[in-house]
Amino acid sequence: MTTHTTRRDARAARSIRQIRHDEASALLASDIAKAAIALNGTPVLLLDPERVRGQYRRLAAALPFVRFHYAVKALAHRAVLTALAEEGCGFDVATGEELALLEGIDPGRVIHTHPIKKPAEIAQALAAGVRTFVVDNVVELEKFAGAPADARLLIRLAYRSPHAKSDLSTKFGVGPYEAAHLVEQARDRGIRVAGFSFHVGSQLDDPQRFAAAIAETLALMDHLEATLGVRFDTLDIGGGFPVAYDSAVTPLEDLAAVLRPVLEPHADRLAIIAEPGRVLAAEAMTLVTSVVGVSERGDGRWYYLDDGLYGSYSNVLAEDVHPLIFSERELTGRDADAEARRWATLAGPTCDSTDVIAREVLLPELAVGDLLVSPAMGAYTAVTATRFNGRGLTPIAVVGRGARTGELLAVAPDRAAAIV
Ligand SMILES: Cc1ncc(COP(=O)(O)O)c(C=O)c1O
Repeated sequence: MTTHTTRRDARAARSIRQIRHDEASALLASDIAKAAIALNGTPVLLLDPERVRGQYRRLAAALPFVRFHYAVKALAHRAVLTALAEEGCGFDVATGEELALLEGIDPGRVIHTHPIKKPAEIAQALAAGVRTFVVDNVVELEKFAGAPADARLLIRLAYRSPHAKSDLSTKFGVGPYEAAHLVEQARDRGIRVAGFSFHVGSQLDDPQRFAAAIAETLALMDHLEATLGVRFDTLDIGGGFPVAYDSAVTPLEDLAAVLRPVLEPHADRLAIIAEPGRVLAAEAMTLVTSVVGVSERGDGRWYYLDDGLYGSYSNVLAEDVHPLIFSERELTGRDADAEARRWATLAGPTCDSTDVIAREVLLPELAVGDLLVSPAMGAYTAVTATRFNGRGLTPIAVVGRGARTGELLAVAPDRAAAIV
């Protein structure tokens, strides 16, 4: 029996809810988390970059011939970028602003995968030394006329993923015929197309769909090489690796076992790269909120929290992702009387009635000031939060091994002025 199988079996034996409960409970009991909550109050996001490191190592072990480029958009925090840079991970940026966060990192480790870019942004990235870009139309292709000879383009393909939480094929990407046309157009303009990229859709728990997209792309590459006399050297399989938010998903190792036989025979000939975001960042951050209001309404008990859909829970709305929500009392074992639990609606702090985080959550009786904890809040949370109603951004306190004291008192940019 392999180590992976043993670990998988052990994990399968406990439900995701129990695993998340135990992790959140251990975190809340730690001195460092207590200090971060005491210093910052709530809401606060507790970030453990070691979890990012651990996920990266799992990915790299499961698909050793794939070069990973972390999708910075998922969580653009310095501690995350530093941990991944130390691990040897590459980076995937979508904007010049994300690229600027990577100052000091070898630009050869960075790819720019947004299919639409301002010409000035392309010039800035080229000047910084980035050479790999993604395009999916002729207008974008033409922006690379006159680029340095070692600039390399990947053509983004679209694979429909109706079962993904976020089907990324509706806005970007082309089918095989348009792709062939783009390769021809690039060849005629002397622009190098190095290969293809795609994104199977974020949070897609369908290994066979992922494998099929890879196989279709490889077949297209073979066909175009044979018919157009071109040569490709890169296959970018994108992101989309799923995260177990409130229920189990295919473990990384099992997903990799499905992808490996499709990819590995091509690893000598092609650079195989990927752009994971969510799977690296999600489990690294935990949100701590508190109850600011309690109301008995026609449909039962409502608790109003100090973070919501316009803040750290934005992914609930944008991608239908539902992180678990535990009360501190459950996590610390003070919820002895399970009979006293009741179904409740959890709402965010803004005046908008859309701002409802979750309905029918079974919770102990809560009062103003009681803490609630959501694990797996690292991806597409802080980065997509808004300042609606004038609310500040939820600060991020680093609580992992090696955290510096200053990082515990996490001052969100908009709050800095108020504190100084
Ligand atoms: C081009 C691109 N690459 C990578 C990612 C990261 O995807 P995920 O977080 O699902 O791994 C995204 C997410 O939107 C994306 O648009």
